[in-house]
Amino acid sequence: MTPVSQRGLPGTRPEGTRDEAEAAAHVREMFGRIAPRYDLLNHLLSLDIDKVWRRRVARAFRAVLSDANARVLDLCCGTGDLAFAFRREAPNGAQIIGSDFVPEMLVRARAKAVALGVAVEFIEADALQLPFADASFDLVASAFGFRNLANYERGLSEILRVLKPGGAAAILEFAEPPGIVFSALYRFYFRNILPRLGGMISGNASAYSYLPSSVSKFPPPQELKSDLERAGFVEVRFERWTGGIVTLHTAHKARSAGF
Ligand SMILES: C[S@@+](CC[C@H](N)C(=O)[O-])C[C@H]1O[C@@H](n2cnc3c(N)ncnc32)[C@H](O)[C@@H]1O
Repeated sequence: MTPVSQRGLPGTRPEGTRDEAEAAAHVREMFGRIAPRYDLLNHLLSLDIDKVWRRRVARAFRAVLSDANARVLDLCCGTGDLAFAFRREAPNGAQIIGSDFVPEMLVRARAKAVALGVAVEFIEADALQLPFADASFDLVASAFGFRNLANYERGLSEILRVLKPGGAAAILEFAEPPGIVFSALYRFYFRNILPRLGGMISGNASAYSYLPSSVSKFPPPQELKSDLERAGFVEVRFERWTGGIVTLHTAHKARSAGF
């Protein structure tokens, strides 16, 4: 398997961006612009299945979420829906923090926390340079965020750094499904219908053509598993959900890890 750094794709590269800095700036600006319509479009374009996926991640980590002494990070939290699914799973459990580098997303996440009356803290932070101490989280999870990082290797090493020894990482991401018929149907929806609908409703067509193009360039599940192992994670596994249109990768930081 070719290492991430030799594949020539160290992270996302939206159309027209040449390097890591330009890619990150583009991603930040794009999510800032679609933030007002982000929730509506998420639920509409996925026919609400996105809520099921986040709940399923929460159920998979019920034990850590129920531990009132645990600290959990929703990385690239956007408007906070994974963090809220975590809170619902364990209302009096772990301390839950969401982080994202787009203020327009965080404003909405904080407003939702107030409206829901739940304790979740939201912090502005770049996933490639987290403002958290080494070994300070029991679980770091990201839903549809990791793919947008401009440097996957650095993203993985930051997750590993902030995890406590024995802590868990979870990456929920879109994937291209296996199987000829389903994948053809999916590609048609993802490349033709979704960008048009998304563009019309958000007023930002490029953001919704970025989505299928970033998914097609993202490492396929087996490759991402190898990338996690190379980054130093142990017990790396993945599951395909909903016919393979999303995958959940889970991994751990070794108990004897040095951080
Ligand atoms: C597709 S949204 C996912 C939001 C949320 N996790 C969800 O489940 O709906 C991707 C998010 O990743 C954030 N993001 C991308 N790159 C980031 C980075 N380097 N640091 C922090 N957040 C980042 C974007 O601002 C955006 O809010």
